Amino acid sequence: MEDLRGPRQEIDRIDGELARLFEARMAAAAEIAARKRALGLPVRDPAREREVLEQAAARIENPALRPRFAALMEALMAQSRDYQEELNTGNPNSILPERGALRRAASLLDLDRRVFLVTDDGVPVQYTEALAAQCRDATVYTVPRGEGSKSPESLTALLEAMLRAGLTRGDCVAAVGGGVVGDLAGLAAALYMRGIDWYNLPTTLLAMVDSSVGGKTAVNLGGVKNAAGAFWQPKAVLIDPEVLDTLPRRQRSNGLAEAVKMALTHDAQLFARFENPAGYGPVEEIIAACLRIKTAVVAADEREAGLRRVLNFGHTLGHGLEAAAGGRLLHGEAVALGMLPLCAPEVRARLIPVLERLGLPTYVNFDLDMDKALEAICHDKKSVEGGVETVFVPAVGRFAFQTADLRELKALLSTLTRQQALGNRH
Ligand SMILES: NC(=O)c1ccc[n+]([C@@H]2O[C@H](COP(=O)([O-])OP(=O)(O)OC[C@H]3O[C@@H](n4cnc5c(N)ncnc54)[C@H](O)[C@@H]3O)[C@@H](O)[C@H]2O)c1
Repeated sequence: MEDLRGPRQEIDRIDGELARLFEARMAAAAEIAARKRALGLPVRDPAREREVLEQAAARIENPALRPRFAALMEALMAQSRDYQEELNTGNPNSILPERGALRRAASLLDLDRRVFLVTDDGVPVQYTEALAAQCRDATVYTVPRGEGSKSPESLTALLEAMLRAGLTRGDCVAAVGGGVVGDLAGLAAALYMRGIDWYNLPTTLLAMVDSSVGGKTAVNLGGVKNAAGAFWQPKAVLIDPEVLDTLPRRQRSNGLAEAVKMALTHDAQLFARFENPAGYGPVEEIIAACLRIKTAVVAADEREAGLRRVLNFGHTLGHGLEAAAGGRLLHGEAVALGMLPLCAPEVRARLIPVLERLGLPTYVNFDLDMDKALEAICHDKKSVEGGVETVFVPAVGRFAFQTADLRELKALLSTLTRQQALGNRH
């Protein structure tokens, strides 16, 4: 065989040179971005980006290689933008909880591009206005409030609107709203052009402590909750607790249910805060504690193959109750109820007064359609062969996975009907 040492050495030498040039280019681009930011100038300059691409491609002598080199340069520029954003925000997919963060979003996120803002008609407009004012080019898209917007139809309409707005791969989506808006907009970002950047700006407590972290996005399909979705991490989650000032009390309690869920399975100290008759303290601290738990669980198991299933505590029965309630229960309220039968008696005895204090239900105060509830639980994607998996809390701060068959599920649910629930307590 011919001696290949010569060309191989040449490739090694070129690769070494490329690595050095790559590092130098990233550093130079980051310096330009930092200086522009300091001067309050837009970081991106699409006209200049096009020029750089054209000039670089023109230097290639072999015309057949020019489009390939242009594609390589485009990828390099995208990497460069990601790197600058990481430098700016601290880390990729960063979570930024901070009062007033919405007002200074432009210094935390890359809004120097086309930003497609998705919100719902129940979110006060001042929040989308505050964000839109900081974007180079903003389009605001508003869906009707409520779970009904998490449908394939609204997803299609949203994707079509993104296409009409001329969104390209370098542009981004920003979700400004609760879990409904985040789940819908995140899925649209995952699908559009095979995935574009998105930012999540949660405006409900539930979304701040739970749904905005973890990258789960979905719509409901054929009556099954979250049946079509994707794991698609937002580039950043910007949490501004100031927006909670306008959140109705019932919605705040709804979010606290998810915080109690995390406390019960992971954090006895956090649970003790909820037991304090003087109140649980600043909501920022509750958000921070929940984010610590959720990010640790998600980091250990992003795709819900193992540990992440613990976040379903209260959700298995909760989904059934939510379906049977026909709109009478909010998601967090159903989760609050769903936790009660799956705690050890001593834990339940501590949980009931906490839920009452937080304005959450402790029994089902309507005629429970058991068949409907069971059907929803068993159609639920968390169903497993030979029974449905549930999470059980044997002591505050601990959890165990269990399975329950239909008969057991029915028995668990019936402990929540008014007479049974009250009877169990006395
Ligand atoms: N992706 C996940 O990991 C995950 C986790 C938990 C829940 N979820 C999903 O989240 C959804 C529920 O989310 P949610 O509880 O935030 O409900 P939501 O998104 O429906 O918001 C509740 C209501 O509050 C209004 N609102 C939002 N922000 C407000 C503000 N700052 N001031 C006044 N009103 C405001 C909205 O218009 C809406 O009417 C469900 O669809 C659930 O499946 C997703």
